Amino acid sequence: MERVCVYPGSFDPVTVGHVDIIRRARHLFDRVVVAVLHNPAKTGCFPVAQRLDMLKCACQGMDGVSVAAFDGLLVDFAHQEGACAVVRGIRAAGDYEAEKTMADINARLMPELETVFLPARPEHACVSSSAVRELAAFGGDFAFMVPEGCAEQVARRFAK
Ligand code: PNS
Repeated sequence: MERVCVYPGSFDPVTVGHVDIIRRARHLFDRVVVAVLHNPAKTGCFPVAQRLDMLKCACQGMDGVSVAAFDGLLVDFAHQEGACAVVRGIRAAGDYEAEKTMADINARLMPELETVFLPARPEHACVSSSAVRELAAFGGDFAFMVPEGCAEQVARRFAK
C-alpha cells in the first residue's frame, strides 16, 4: 500500500530548510503532500496562491511530491489525502515544545495518524520564513535562505 505523508505549514515563504525536509520525507514515504494552511483570519505576508506558486517552483521535478492548500483541521486534511503521517522539521530544542503539543493534539484527534519529526540539518538551523521576511524588509541578504527561483518573488514583495 502506498504510504503518504502530509508536510503542513504556513510556508510564508518556503525556505531551503523546508525543501530539505520535503526531500528527506520523500525518501521515507511514497508520496509527500505539502500542505499550506489557508487561514482566512490570518492573511500572512504572501497570499496563499503565491506561497503555492513558490512551493511548486521549489519542488519542480520532485517525483511523488504535490502541493496543496488546506483550511480547517490538519487531521481532516490528512484523512482526506489518505496520509498515515504528518512530517514536521525541528531546528532547535525551542521548536520541540510547540511541536510536541501539536503532535499530542493531533494524536488525540486521530490516533492512527503518526507525527514524524525530522531534525533540521545544522546548516539550516538559522533559516526560517520569519528571518527571510525580516531580512527582505530591511535590505539584508536573504537569498541563501530561499530556493532558487523564489528570491525574485520575495524581493518584489518588499520592493519600495
Ligand atoms: O509553519 P507553521 O505556521 O508552524 O505551521 C503550523 C500548522 C499549519 C502546521 C498548524 O497551525 C496546523 O496544523 N494548523 C491547522 C489547524 C489544526 O489542525 N489545529 C490543531 C492542531 S494544533
